[in-house]
Amino acid sequence: MENRALLDKAIEIKKMAYAPYSNVTVGAALLTADDTLYTGVNIENASYGATNCAERTAIFKAVSDGHTKMKAIAIASNLKEFITPCGICRQVLVEFGTPDMTIILGDADDYVVYTLEELLPMSFTPVALKGEKHNV
Ligand code: THU
Repeated sequence: MENRALLDKAIEIKKMAYAPYSNVTVGAALLTADDTLYTGVNIENASYGATNCAERTAIFKAVSDGHTKMKAIAIASNLKEFITPCGICRQVLVEFGTPDMTIILGDADDYVVYTLEELLPMSFTPVALKGEKHNV
């Protein structure tokens, strides 16, 4: 799936966001290594810390269906500026994506593309637990 089409899925799903506290609605569209599409939205909670971001919702849906390799994610919100993944989501992406995983940020008019390595350089990855050199 091309970048624009994946971002359009993220834009479409953001209407399902549960965001009564921030009113920031976020949608994510995730492509697994075998080209399966998953979408996710942010799900807020009255105890604010229990909030789950759109990116992690999509990733957790995919992993719970047995997909542990991801190749692209697109993220959109109702904010004026392009939304970028929070630190926790970047770390979760590193668990399931390669350094060249595509990250698409944008809206209906325009988008920018980054790699996961650009968003989280020198990250702590699963191979680090084995004492192997990685990502640097
Ligand atoms: N949020 C996401 O869903 N993804 C991001 O990349 C950043 C922030 C959500 C969390 C919260 O529901 C709202 O946006 C405001 O922080």
